[in-house]
Amino acid sequence: MPSLDIATVRSAFPALSSGFLYADNAGGSQCLADAVAHISDYLLNTNVQLGADYAVSQKSTSRVASGADAAKELFNADSVDEVAFGSSATMLVENLTRAIEKDVNEGDEIIVTGEHEVLVYRPANAGPWKRLAARRGAIIKLWRPSQIAASPNNPYAVSLQLEALLPLVTAKTRLLAFTACSNILGSVVPVKQIVRAVREKARELGVPKLEVCVDCVAYAPHRRIDVKDWDIEYCVFSVYKVYGPHASVLYIRAPALTHSLSSLAHHFLSVDTKPYKVQPGGPGYEIVYGCTAVPPYLKSLAPSGALADAYDLIAEHEQTLLTPLLAYLRGKTDRGVRVVGDEYEGPSRVPTVSFVVAGERPIRSKDVVKAFDDRGDIGIRYGHFYAYTLVDTLQPKLNVDDAVVRISFVHYNTVEEVEKIIKVLDEVLA
Ligand SMILES: Cc1ncc(COP(=O)(O)O)c(C=O)c1O
Repeated sequence: MPSLDIATVRSAFPALSSGFLYADNAGGSQCLADAVAHISDYLLNTNVQLGADYAVSQKSTSRVASGADAAKELFNADSVDEVAFGSSATMLVENLTRAIEKDVNEGDEIIVTGEHEVLVYRPANAGPWKRLAARRGAIIKLWRPSQIAASPNNPYAVSLQLEALLPLVTAKTRLLAFTACSNILGSVVPVKQIVRAVREKARELGVPKLEVCVDCVAYAPHRRIDVKDWDIEYCVFSVYKVYGPHASVLYIRAPALTHSLSSLAHHFLSVDTKPYKVQPGGPGYEIVYGCTAVPPYLKSLAPSGALADAYDLIAEHEQTLLTPLLAYLRGKTDRGVRVVGDEYEGPSRVPTVSFVVAGERPIRSKDVVKAFDDRGDIGIRYGHFYAYTLVDTLQPKLNVDDAVVRISFVHYNTVEEVEKIIKVLDEVLA
């Protein structure tokens, strides 16, 4: 079995040569040199409005169109007409909830997870799905994380589990919106299995129309998305966390695009079967073109050149980062360290690791991170990371603003970097 060539991987990211240790990748990854080159080339050579007949415009049009090809490949969608671009996942989901509004009725139920503002159910009237529900008189139901059986003594060892979801499905369920991976808990949800089980129950109950939206923002840097295999209508992720520039992409399955969504675009544009329905106005053209650097890079990681194989190699390397860090944190249980999320490495765990220091000598998450900040050469972070509801509902209760310390790696991080972080942690926890 081949493994990742880390030296080659790192050489694709100029930022990594500075020696700074990037360990806040769940916030945003470093950007490929090729993506930057594409952006620069676009702006220097083809920076005109799309759709005209002159030569430069034809070239810029085809460059921007190739961005949709890249997104289609990353989603494993059927067509470029199923892909919309936007500046953030948050904005795209807001657009989606606006476009779907006429197809959501009073009393319809929307099941969401509390893991990100995109999907969140907060006391305030925040979050696109919550606002949609308020506009239409629909009902929001929260799929809460449950205790992981292998860690009965750590109350923060929780994950989203099917057993907690199924009772929420009723004859009125209209939408299910959840994260494929939590940006705090780091656990991967078995999307295909979840969707199959929910659809089966919905069929038994005679649900007239159930659609599924999956937030892959914290998932896409680590695992392959497959919207067809998963059998979902909507999917979103952010390219700036998947080694590209600051753009996000939304998948909309063709029948949903035609039948569930109303257009947000200008009335005189004929967009019935086009993603422009949820993409009013043009995205940043140079940024969209920059995104085309991502699939070739990912595929270059695997000898076979296949995206699925590349993600397998990424997942395998990530376990080598996760294993020593989780072992270290578990070893500090007596010092009051509690992993927030799955305490154990494995195929359904990505290297986004959160923890708190509780017990007799608690340390604020802010102070743990300060020890790193004071050094000036390592980037980690503390807080709720917009998984506000998730953090707020953990028991025993955490201060939601101080929340957790999060260390998040991706495939370009090295075992030596993990060891360096463990050394600093050891000083902090002494
Ligand atoms: C799980 C999850 N969903 C959604 C988002 C929001 O993404 P964006 O910044 O593109 O709006 C994030 C950002 O951290 C996230 O981690």
